[in-house]
Amino acid sequence: MSLIKEIDYGTPESPLEDTVDIEIDGLPATVKAGTTILRAARERGVEIPRLCATDSLKPFGSCRLCVVEVEGRKGYPASCTTPVEPGMKIHTQTDQVARLRRNVMELYISDHPLDCLTCSANGDCELQDMAGAVGLREVRYGMDGANHLDAAVDDSNPYFSFDPSKCIVCSRCVRACDEVQGTFALTIEGRGFDSKVAASVGETFLDSECVSCGACIQVCPTATLMEKSIIDHGLPEHSVITTCAYCGVGCSFKAEMKGDQVVRMTPYKDGEANHGHSCVKGRFAWGYATHKDRVLDPMIRDNTSDPWRKVTWDEAIGFAARRFKEIQKKYGRKSIGGITSSRCTNEEVWLVQKLVRAAFGNNNVDTCARVCHSPTGYGLKTTLGTSAGTQLFDSVMDADVITVIGANPTVGHPVFASQMKQRLRQGAKLIVIDPREIDLVRSPHIQADYHLALLPGTNVPVINAFAYVAITEGFVDEEYVAERCDTDSFDAWKENILKPENSPEEVAKISGVPADIIRDAAKLYASADRAAIYYGLGVSEHSQGSTMVMGMANLAMATGNIGFTGVGVNPLRGQNNVQGSCDMGSFPHELPGYRPVQDDAVRSTFEKRWGVELDPEPGFRIPNMFDAAIAGKFKGMYIQGEDLAQSDPNTQHVEAALGSLECLVVQDLFLVESAKFAHVFLPGTSFLEKDGTFTNAERRINRVRPVMKPRQGKAEWLITQELAQALGYPMNYNNEAEIMDEIAALTPAFTGVSFDFLDRVGSVQWPCNEKAPMGTPIMHVDNFVRGKGLFVETDYVPTQERTNNKFPLLLTTGRILSQYNVGAQTRRTENVVWYDDDVLEIHPHDAETRGINNDDRVSLASRKGDITLRATITERVPPGVVYTTFHNPETGANVVTTEYSDWATNCPEYKVTAVQVAPAVHRSKWQHEFEERARSQGKILEPA
Ligand code: SF4
Ligand code: SF4
Ligand code: SF4
Ligand code: FES
Repeated sequence: MSLIKEIDYGTPESPLEDTVDIEIDGLPATVKAGTTILRAARERGVEIPRLCATDSLKPFGSCRLCVVEVEGRKGYPASCTTPVEPGMKIHTQTDQVARLRRNVMELYISDHPLDCLTCSANGDCELQDMAGAVGLREVRYGMDGANHLDAAVDDSNPYFSFDPSKCIVCSRCVRACDEVQGTFALTIEGRGFDSKVAASVGETFLDSECVSCGACIQVCPTATLMEKSIIDHGLPEHSVITTCAYCGVGCSFKAEMKGDQVVRMTPYKDGEANHGHSCVKGRFAWGYATHKDRVLDPMIRDNTSDPWRKVTWDEAIGFAARRFKEIQKKYGRKSIGGITSSRCTNEEVWLVQKLVRAAFGNNNVDTCARVCHSPTGYGLKTTLGTSAGTQLFDSVMDADVITVIGANPTVGHPVFASQMKQRLRQGAKLIVIDPREIDLVRSPHIQADYHLALLPGTNVPVINAFAYVAITEGFVDEEYVAERCDTDSFDAWKENILKPENSPEEVAKISGVPADIIRDAAKLYASADRAAIYYGLGVSEHSQGSTMVMGMANLAMATGNIGFTGVGVNPLRGQNNVQGSCDMGSFPHELPGYRPVQDDAVRSTFEKRWGVELDPEPGFRIPNMFDAAIAGKFKGMYIQGEDLAQSDPNTQHVEAALGSLECLVVQDLFLVESAKFAHVFLPGTSFLEKDGTFTNAERRINRVRPVMKPRQGKAEWLITQELAQALGYPMNYNNEAEIMDEIAALTPAFTGVSFDFLDRVGSVQWPCNEKAPMGTPIMHVDNFVRGKGLFVETDYVPTQERTNNKFPLLLTTGRILSQYNVGAQTRRTENVVWYDDDVLEIHPHDAETRGINNDDRVSLASRKGDITLRATITERVPPGVVYTTFHNPETGANVVTTEYSDWATNCPEYKVTAVQVAPAVHRSKWQHEFEERARSQGKILEPA
């Protein structure tokens, strides 16, 4: 294995298609018009020295190291800011330019510490390389003049340090923060000799606006901005390309290694989802893989009140299989089930659903998408024909109007948010529909054109009002609808939408958004050449989640906004492989590829390959499993990589269900909350130990490659395979590639996919098959996958969860940038610096009427239960609405959420809970019980 080094062309690729012929150092070259001389030379294999230029940033032209001579031109132009012209004859290395470059370098080095041998960047420093490239041998001015060598190091950020004594003030970091990340956290303070990089006036990096995305470190040509892991462990020796295991953006990374130790994760320039960018989670928060809390031994116990016993793999798997068989004998075939993990690979998920179907003999398999994007699957499949987003991420760069509904991309999908912000800074319009003022509403150089701060639970009337405006104001794309859509369904939908209750004036009364704002925002969307919708759990996690997804699809079809770049209906999917876990057949009513289990022909394809008869009846969804468990009919569960006890709503109900099981097998990295109810614990692997694929929110299948051996001694797919074998079902894969081959053989959208293919092409978006051998970046291009696009009527049925005098506020939930999902991984990294607790956001008016001050501990009570947490008083939430996160198990945010769920898919209504908030007198009953259980659960017995 070698260290992968991407080529830096110095300036970005020209977007122009025309070419020009030039001559570089006497050799002919043909390059795209608009290309800089610096890039043209590099494309021709000629390296021109440079310091302030790098190809992820616009040319800047400050260092003057890249000067060249151009025949017929006076002076020495900077090659990084000079575009090629037809017939140009360029000389990159003449005596004069060599002398000029040496002079420039001499000045830089005269104010730079000469500690190369002990510098952590020694061998990976562009300044050092350039000094060599220009042949600098001496510094005539000496090192005694005025300099910055005593400038203090800022070590405040847990992951990187800033040593200004090494800074050459090239501004790359400032430009990366502005152009790539879009946070604008850095500035160059002062002028001339006094100029210096500053995170914020008088503030450290930690206290500044910096969100630790790492973009500035990535471009810094010196050791000024440096990962602490490199300072601690030294430079990497080899690297492996893999995929981030956090959110649905699916960023590609170079895992850079020294021996088998990861020393740095660097975003991979050729990664098609992230183009070399990252966020704090993927870039830095990977230390959980080697955290001391990792459980590395299989464990069992007869009762959940017993201590855990460490045992061999055979004993643990045998114990689980024996109990599952006993349960099925006593309570019937359908009394057990399994949960697949959206944090695991496609291959691992495939085996778990296969285990349930082929070895358990039922369809009791479900996944975390049940509690997040199952309405997306239902809604998009019904209207368009495919249970997935319509675009690739890059499509946002062609959008004229971007509508963000119920999503907070800068915290949930940060790398995509940075790309979206680039487009917004180029002038695209922005509509935000969200009860909270998310970052996008107002951030540096971005201001939403409309923010519809609607009351939680009123998405459907608002989208219906958008459709009402589109129809009544003549924005329907009649030609598109006539050609591509089911016109009968369109006519019925139109008639329904035109009911007075869908007018902005009526919807204003329900949603709290003024009618003129609804009308103007709707007109902006409907009149755009290219209007794109991006949405998140603020759409799906409602009792009308599926209705809303169909409402958005209706609107997009009616206005002709599906089937080309810059448009579409795009779910921002939460977990890294939630798209994949759905594709792989993790639903109780669907076999892989979203095909009904009741379909005899589909079932028989699987039966032939798997050599077993499959149950034609759909199985239990997660909530059905819980209800059946409490009713005494469901007794065994195999959960891979999900923490239902923390993530699912109505915690008391979940705990009662898990607590009633006779065999709960939890396969995970840590003793998560669900493990408190488990009888068998099977240690899982982190993404750094996995070989396989993840599928991101744009349907992109990316390779996940192992950089270390499974720390607990066994690949996760092998654990599932051995459990199947112990249950008497033969599973005999030799490796993960064979599992992908079976996926491809049985799933029509995957027929062209294999590990070899992905290793060759990098990544591919499904469908990837005979019709689309190189994948499908944009869906529904000529026709909708279902044939004609179907309009579905979307009448508003309000949730049964209502505010009243006792519970007058509405709680909605979400997440923060530094934490991920239930926090099991990110809480075990330095990301805790930014997060020490879940807090409750409350509007100043609501706080004042309750006598609540900032940071007070408050009680949050609903009809389901109560918890206590700290209050943050903020106008981000409107009066009447409070907001919290669910990253911390001690907080127990889901103790208060209800069992109400989407009518079509049972996706829980996390986003609407009627609550009361009051100053807290003591910890809640649930929190006392939680602490008790945590104390009694710690014990693990070593093998005798
Ligand atoms: S910190 Fe690095 S990138 Fe920023 S100005 Fe200094 S040398 Fe350039
Ligand atoms: S880490 Fe990211 S946000 Fe922070 S200063 Fe650097 S580029 Fe800006
Ligand atoms: S945006 Fe998502 S996939 Fe990319 S680095 Fe961050 S968490 Fe990982
Ligand atoms: S690299 Fe061209 S001026 Fe700095």
